[in-house]
Amino acid sequence: MLDIKFTPAAAPKPLPDPDTLVFGRTFTDHMFLMNYDAGQGWHDPRVEPYGPLPFELSCMVFHYAQEIFEGMKAYRTPDGKVQLFRPYENASRMNSSCRRMCIPEIPEEDFVQAVKAVVSADKRWVPEKMGTSLYIRPFIIATDSSLGVHASHSYLFAVICCPVGAYYPEGLNPVKIYVEDEDVRAVKGGTGFTKCGGNYAASIRAGERAEEQGYSQVLWLDGVHRKYIEEVGSMNVMFKVGNTIITPELTGSVLPGITRKSCLELMRDWGFSVEERLISARELFDAAQAGSLEEAWGTGTAAVVSPIGLLAQGDTKVEVSGGRIGRLTQRLYDTLTGIQWGTEPDPYGWVEPVE
Ligand code: COI
Repeated sequence: MLDIKFTPAAAPKPLPDPDTLVFGRTFTDHMFLMNYDAGQGWHDPRVEPYGPLPFELSCMVFHYAQEIFEGMKAYRTPDGKVQLFRPYENASRMNSSCRRMCIPEIPEEDFVQAVKAVVSADKRWVPEKMGTSLYIRPFIIATDSSLGVHASHSYLFAVICCPVGAYYPEGLNPVKIYVEDEDVRAVKGGTGFTKCGGNYAASIRAGERAEEQGYSQVLWLDGVHRKYIEEVGSMNVMFKVGNTIITPELTGSVLPGITRKSCLELMRDWGFSVEERLISARELFDAAQAGSLEEAWGTGTAAVVSPIGLLAQGDTKVEVSGGRIGRLTQRLYDTLTGIQWGTEPDPYGWVEPVE
């Protein structure tokens, strides 16, 4: 159990208009910080006013990207309470990222306590409007002042928060996705299964090119065969082909999404046959042309459940679900958001109150 020191913000900031929230732009009054030093372990857990910190330009994270992060949300329930969704899953995934990136792990209980501490200090920032939430960004950066390529001996764990609406400007309207066949995001043996900033840095060029052509994000292919689909920019991806649900298996280069895991659990409970396996882009386009690709959607903390209305590869374009949200996609969205916002029962014990 952490002994967290609390320094309240002197002047709380005005809350943003809940109707015009843009993802990741407005930050709350407080942040959680905790340092690590070799020989001492994690120490000095504290909640402080949100603000800039001084770092030397030789700070290791700026050069070699020894950094990992998580994404999670706090939701306002109809009775005014605040709750988290599966926070121990984020704690466990962060430690899996830590192991790959040679960053010292944080006990799961401490991670969840840190998140709860900052959310509790910034409770008034958890918006009430349906579809809005408080996005939480826990992250760890290497802080040694050194240009040697080694694991750092010191780190900073921080948790910052921002009120958000829909991740895509499209909201629940289907997004258009483009199969990227030049750049790759990750390879087996690399860092694809972690949430490290470097994965996202490598994805930016393809994302920019896709946007220039009117697509929301790219669908990545595997780095070896350039054949099997992996994930979309900031989401895992799933398809309904006939009565079967297919999604790329977690081969090591795909992020093990918590929304992914939750959707698979829901659909298995609903009696669908769910296959986690290799899926070639060819298989998808063939299914679309044969009329059996009924629905496609992405899943992620930020994006929640996001319908895909158009898939493109080169000059080939296929519309999915007539460009509208499919029935199963809508059911997943409604069930998941119902549990998260506390408007539906939570038979799985997925939500965690914040006092
Ligand atoms: C999340 O869904 O929490 C993510 O991490 C996506 C983010 C890169 C926008």
